[in-house]
Amino acid sequence: MAKTASVILTQNLSDTKRTTSFNHSANDDEIPTIDYSMLICSNDPDQRLKALQYLAYVCKEYGFFYLVNHGVPDSVIERALNGISDFFNLTEEEKMDYEKKDSTDRIRWGLGFSPGDHEAVKREYLKVLPHPKFEGPAKPAGFREALEDYYQRDREVIINLAKAVSKTLGFEENYLEKEFELETGADVSAMNVYPLGFKPNTQIGLPAHYDPGYLVSLVQNVNGGLQLNYKQKWINVDMPSNALFINIGDHVEVLTNGKYKSPMHRVILNNEVRRVSVATVHGPSLDTFVKPGPEFVGESHPPAYRGMIYKDSLEANGYHEIDGKSCIAQLRL
Ligand code: SIN
Ligand code: FE2
Repeated sequence: MAKTASVILTQNLSDTKRTTSFNHSANDDEIPTIDYSMLICSNDPDQRLKALQYLAYVCKEYGFFYLVNHGVPDSVIERALNGISDFFNLTEEEKMDYEKKDSTDRIRWGLGFSPGDHEAVKREYLKVLPHPKFEGPAKPAGFREALEDYYQRDREVIINLAKAVSKTLGFEENYLEKEFELETGADVSAMNVYPLGFKPNTQIGLPAHYDPGYLVSLVQNVNGGLQLNYKQKWINVDMPSNALFINIGDHVEVLTNGKYKSPMHRVILNNEVRRVSVATVHGPSLDTFVKPGPEFVGESHPPAYRGMIYKDSLEANGYHEIDGKSCIAQLRL
């Protein structure tokens, strides 16, 4: 069954080009756009298939895209972003209640510096674990509820997207949910604010890295800093204000034995706008052993990654500890 789907999809994919009849296009230096409503909600099977073919192309060629018409109301995103901004405006003393003491803390506030430069803060962050059990800061008033709303809506979209990605790989729609045991999937969200006052476009806010997990979603108050590495060039994320930015995570790269790759990205500082972002890493269950799936391994495709329990792969690479580290380098064989 899975094999048949794979063959059909692969045949159809061979004629999927960048510019298609359904109005999706991307140049080398442009970030592609996926229309969630066509992919998930369309009643027209032909439209759904075309959207799926384009998603397959984008996952393989880019590993990142803007997701539009995703159904998360602007008001939900705005309320979360405003709450985050208000949180960062609290006094240092108030924020200290959430200061990171241990990497297992469920709420962790901290300051980021560029490697080798401990003089000036380049990023301030607040990390929470939205799933399987969300706990948010009590201050400022209403912030926890705003976040909870956002994370719930965001996860619904991501789970549907995981179904679509499963289909692009030639499997039934619950493939990723089963492989990664997503009922107890471990999501980690980093809320960030980047300071002004640096020489624009030369200073790093968040060093180049790859994200763990299967899919990562991001919203921001304004464009101006996030860059993706594509074909050895940095390209700017310049997305419509109501889009989600999505990228493939390291553990899809491992599972697919490198068919879909986790993209390298970084944040540079700008001197014009105070940028606030929320990047949510949607991960397998902490106890899930992730390894290249047998369907992706063969004589001409030997396993290119080692298998590891998800929790161990996060800890072994200090994901919670240091900006700029990532799992994938150590999972590669
Ligand atoms: C950001 O765009 O501010 C953060 C991106 C990331 O977490 O990699
Ligand atoms: Fe990241």
